[in-house]
Amino acid sequence: MGEWSRLIEEIKNCRKCGLYASRKQAVPGEGSRDSDIMFVGEAPGAKEDEQGRPFVGPAGKLLTQLIESIGYRREDVYITNIVKCRPPGNRDPTEDEIETCIPYLLREIDLVRPKIIVALGRHAARTLFSLAGLKWRNMKALHGRVFDAEINGVKVKLLATYHPAAALYYPKLKNILEKDFNEQIRNLISKIRKTAGFKGEQRTLLDYFSK
Ligand code: URA
Repeated sequence: MGEWSRLIEEIKNCRKCGLYASRKQAVPGEGSRDSDIMFVGEAPGAKEDEQGRPFVGPAGKLLTQLIESIGYRREDVYITNIVKCRPPGNRDPTEDEIETCIPYLLREIDLVRPKIIVALGRHAARTLFSLAGLKWRNMKALHGRVFDAEINGVKVKLLATYHPAAALYYPKLKNILEKDFNEQIRNLISKIRKTAGFKGEQRTLLDYFSK
């Protein structure tokens, strides 16, 4: 069995914390395993729990639109969560649940080796900042800013933005989220595209002369 299949099987059968008792299904990440960009949310909601796939509910619809707005298809990127099982009633995941689940995310990062990680919402942001040894403050102060980070030996550009679910409730946040995607994330991608080893697109001769 390959590394990926082993990881997915382990996640699906995981009973390391109490969330297994109330979940319908665990939700591993999905998308391109060769992607330069990884989006990390908080935890599955009701729809994700039913379907066993991340970001398939209303927040997922918005995330898919945002991904498309920067020129990608959903299947071109990798999408996952900090915690792989739905906390009952969509409560916040506890510290213990996050800590228990983190090794799965670290393995996903190790396998995908993204160049950019986008943390969606404060739980994902503070967890990823902490994994990178960076100080997290709050979303208002840090959203849309790019940090050089190393997580599990993988060097990435780390950027946090608001959670699409929060943006569905607060139109002001939706504007900020759209701006983060269309300015900060888009700029970051075009910068990274110019660097060697970008997997998403072959460099052409023009890229070399257009600096
Ligand atoms: N919210 C998340 O954080 N993750 C999902 O997969 C769905 C909603």
